[in-house]
Amino acid sequence: MRPMPQKTIIAPSILAADFSRLGHEVRTVSNADWIHIDVMDGHFVPNLSFGLPVAQSIVGLTDKHLDVHLMIEDPARWAPGYALDFDSVTFHLEAVESVEAAVELAATLRAEGTLAGVAIKPGTSVEPLLEHLSDFDIVLVMSVEPGFGGQKFMPEVLDKVRALRERIDSEGLHTIIEIDGGIGPETASESAAAGVDAYVAGSSVFGKPDPVERITAIRSAITSRL
Ligand code: DX5
Ligand code: ZN
Repeated sequence: MRPMPQKTIIAPSILAADFSRLGHEVRTVSNADWIHIDVMDGHFVPNLSFGLPVAQSIVGLTDKHLDVHLMIEDPARWAPGYALDFDSVTFHLEAVESVEAAVELAATLRAEGTLAGVAIKPGTSVEPLLEHLSDFDIVLVMSVEPGFGGQKFMPEVLDKVRALRERIDSEGLHTIIEIDGGIGPETASESAAAGVDAYVAGSSVFGKPDPVERITAIRSAITSRL
């Protein structure tokens, strides 16, 4: 089968945005492809962000694809509640019992009409997922420990990206490889060379005086490597 061309999806994370004017922040990043929404429960990660009601307040502020990243325990209980309102819902492999449980939850999410994603922390092997890539629309590779923005990119996770790219292309799948954590122009460029499709960027976009230019800089760094 012919490999799918790599995509270039830039997804600013609102974790780094000014929460007192989310509407303004979301509208500012007019050249973004997706908006990334980080939900943290203070248990799966040592930080608490917000839950479904705040996430839902973003629906209607933009026509862009809304990409939810659930850093929570017991995603089988909570993730389906996000499926109706959001374009993609990603939960952590470490938060479910097995890869089979992850496949089952992804099927539930897809049946609700959203794209289903699975995320892995920097220390989690990608190997068990490789046999099941057609069951997921997104594999999110964390390039920092989940929980906080503004951390340093861990280049060693790019080995997992390369393994995913190879398997996705050899099977002719459409699964999106997303990278999350420490992304700016330079690390986006390294990630592009490894085979990433979707780039989450928090502190390097929001919180800067010129978010639109920051996205343009990330996009050109990626394009020059593809
Ligand atoms: C971290 C979150 C990220 C975070 C990225 O746990 O999943 O999406 O917002 O922030 P930066 O880009 O600042 O590393
Ligand atoms: Zn995230």
